[in-house]
Amino acid sequence: MASEHILIERRDAVQIIRMNRPDKKNAITRAMYAAMSAALSAGDADPGVRAHLFLGVPGAFCAGNDLADFLAVAMGSESGMEVWDFLLALAGAQKPLVSGVDGIAVGIGTTLNLHCDLTFATPRTVFTTPFVDLGLVPEAASSLLVPRLLGHQRAFALLCLGEPLPAEEALAAGMVRAVVAEEMLESAAIAAAMRIASKPPEALRMSRDLLRGPREEVVRRIRDEGQAFAQRLRSDEARRALSAFMSRKKPA
Ligand code: COA
Repeated sequence: MASEHILIERRDAVQIIRMNRPDKKNAITRAMYAAMSAALSAGDADPGVRAHLFLGVPGAFCAGNDLADFLAVAMGSESGMEVWDFLLALAGAQKPLVSGVDGIAVGIGTTLNLHCDLTFATPRTVFTTPFVDLGLVPEAASSLLVPRLLGHQRAFALLCLGEPLPAEEALAAGMVRAVVAEEMLESAAIAAAMRIASKPPEALRMSRDLLRGPREEVVRRIRDEGQAFAQRLRSDEARRALSAFMSRKKPA
């Protein structure tokens, strides 16, 4: 399924999946999730593709799920399964995943990177996950993967308190491969994806699978979180927080 806000490009054996909705800071709609899931499965099925690369736009990797879409699900008018299909596609991707993250990285704009093999960020990148403030719970198996990476205390601060995690701290914690200047981000991420693409693909696939371990645990956590998330979306806490964002007035 195509979306005008997802641009798919091939650079040799690298498939670039670019979120391109700058006026909404790359908030992801249902159509965008569907387009990204389709790109992952098409790229995995294409022997000419050896790595997937996620990019955003300058200053905005992704502002998270489109909150109008969440509100529609919260109010019961939509089912909104596309996000869960995308998370499963991400966790099940057969080929290495790389991301280049500049600036805003909220919600899934943070958690998507937990599934990437290499993430590049810039000095102005800040990872945030305001799930609890929205009356929600973590997703994308972040409740499993972030404590493993950061330990409980920093994971709690990020996932439960919504405290920002700047790029340099994410680098120190091992959530990011390198922090590079804004103007170097895309070339660094593309070069890394190209390097991956130059490796013997079967040996790389098996090595990556060994490093990642069995996927069942991650998939199970995505499903468990999904159940809790769906329940939370229909809560008064979430409805209030989502409505407040949608009706917020910007300072004149
Ligand atoms: N869903 C829907 N629209 C969003 C959005 C989202 N997640 N994030 C930003 N937008 C929209 C804004 O409503 C605004 O639209 P408008 O120009 O029509 O009013 C536009 O994108 C620009 O956002 P703005 O808030 O003006 O930019 P900013 O640079 O001041 O702040 C954010 C950027 C990301 C910090 C802020 O927009 C924000 O907090 N967004 C919500 C993030 C979120 O909670 N995501 C879900 C996580 S689970």
